Amino acid sequence: MNKHLITTAMAAMTAICATAAGNLTIQYLSPGNAMVRIDAEGEKYLLMPVQETAPMAHIRVLTDGKLDETLNINLADSKIDYYVPLRLDTRDGEKLLLDIRCDSNRSSIRDLQDAVWTHDLKLSDDFDTTNREKYRPLYHHTPEYGWMNDPNGMFWKDGVWNLYYQWNPYGSKWQNMSWGHSTSKDLVHWTAEDGVLYTDPLGMVFSGSAVVDKDNTAGFGEDAVIALFTSADAAQTQSLAYSTDNGKTFTRYAGNPVIAYERESRDPNMFRDEEHNNWVLVLASALDHEDLIFTSKNLKDWTLESKFGQGYGCQDGVWECPDLMKLPVEGTDKEKWVLIVNINPGAPFGGSGVQYFVGDFDGKTFKCDNGPEVTKWMDYGKDYYATVSFSNAPEGRHTVLGWMSNWQYANDVPTMQFRSANSLPRELSLFKAPDGELYLASRVSPEIDALRGKAIKCGTGKPGKKGKSYTLPTANDGICEIELDAELMNGSDLDITLSNSKGERVEMRIDAKNGTFSMDRRNSGLTDFSENFPAVTTAPTHNATGKYALRIFIDRSSIEAIATDGRYAMTNLVFPTEPYTTVTVAAPDGGANIEKMTIYPLIP
Ligand code: FRU
Repeated sequence: MNKHLITTAMAAMTAICATAAGNLTIQYLSPGNAMVRIDAEGEKYLLMPVQETAPMAHIRVLTDGKLDETLNINLADSKIDYYVPLRLDTRDGEKLLLDIRCDSNRSSIRDLQDAVWTHDLKLSDDFDTTNREKYRPLYHHTPEYGWMNDPNGMFWKDGVWNLYYQWNPYGSKWQNMSWGHSTSKDLVHWTAEDGVLYTDPLGMVFSGSAVVDKDNTAGFGEDAVIALFTSADAAQTQSLAYSTDNGKTFTRYAGNPVIAYERESRDPNMFRDEEHNNWVLVLASALDHEDLIFTSKNLKDWTLESKFGQGYGCQDGVWECPDLMKLPVEGTDKEKWVLIVNINPGAPFGGSGVQYFVGDFDGKTFKCDNGPEVTKWMDYGKDYYATVSFSNAPEGRHTVLGWMSNWQYANDVPTMQFRSANSLPRELSLFKAPDGELYLASRVSPEIDALRGKAIKCGTGKPGKKGKSYTLPTANDGICEIELDAELMNGSDLDITLSNSKGERVEMRIDAKNGTFSMDRRNSGLTDFSENFPAVTTAPTHNATGKYALRIFIDRSSIEAIATDGRYAMTNLVFPTEPYTTVTVAAPDGGANIEKMTIYPLIP
């Protein structure tokens, strides 16, 4: 238990919080400044109380007198929403000092002493990460705690998928960008690892990529993992870090930054171009709405070769998180290049989205097949962003993950212990659509099938105008997959509705006449945390056959509707106050025929 002793003998007021072993001493220096000395006795963590609406405090962490880390945190003022841990055991030194500056209008030191956090800092050997959230997905990746945005730096090596992500370890809103880390052997079950890269004097650690340097081109060893990321401070520069333990820990390169471009640029994404014996890097020149293409022999010295994008596709928002890759064209022996460009705002239904360009790449320059007026989107939901691929994936796979949120409301979604999940992994290829154009196909990665429990077979035939209803599984809050094959005669419609006893529902429709699939989440549950959340999203189905095969994945607070052949995908968040219990299929104009429908409980 904490004892909170206040000594007022001296002008500088001091409080000593004794824990079971170590001690914390707080010195109050002014109404907006306190110093905390930590004498830990082997405790692993300092637990810091957070109140999301409290004013921001800025902390400088000094270890043995040297600046180790700077961080921003909403230290609890009047109540505690949750605790976050500051790691003590990973620091190199004995004496730890936190210099805490608080943004607030306090007029006296006594006011500062009343702030809740001054009584509730705790030294501890444990930090409880047991889930407290009903909206935490069960088979999608989430951080154990704290805020997450982009998946980044992902690579596969020796049977392990390494996923890093934009992480705030000190709160569940965007701040203190660092790289969190998780690993998986099957792309489904993720193990939380220690974070790897935290803010340094060059700035926060924004998105980037990682490659396996098999031939030691960078000089950090054969098979070293080399990461490039954006150091974000007054400027955005690109820095290198390497790992010789398969991505568990990274060391920063002494010559950072390795790229300092004169315009705001970020999210370096690298790949190996064997044909030209080069490394290639694509960098988003965010405000110029274009991507810069660099090459290198050693991952440290980069030459700007070309630029692509000004005037192309959607130009409404900043260009971010690019990814350039060569993909097979289904049904042919051809391959084409695809440049993925995340953009915010400017997506079809507002806020963040993923556009892409199909074309050719000669090792230095990307040339788009389409004119600048054409925009192609990868997913037509509101919650699929910052999508990039794993490097070094086995069997030539192009496996991607997207962040399931939207910058319009990502900080406001109704969770606290963590904020945001990643989408299901998807496999990319290209297909030729009835309009003669090449588009991206996104299929759900095959590993997900292993989650299927005992199939619940539903009726076939015409569901009628009123429709047929089926009960969704109840285990694990009803997480499940619905697989549906239907024929829509003469341009008719098929409605698929998820609902619960509260009258909350998600209404989906395949409209064969207009060639669209849509999802309406306006009455899906909690929606009023942002005026941008209620929405109807619509995707083109690229289907001229009348036969539709669709997979719908429900995971507590997310719905991914993905055509079985990957021709359209839609990812939307939902926050039902209780799980959806029923799925109803109906043919409003009588012309739909269900050929097969199966509900699979998913067992995480
Ligand atoms: C995309 C993004 C990136 C940046 C990161 C910062 O969501 O804005 O451009 O690197 O998030 O967290």
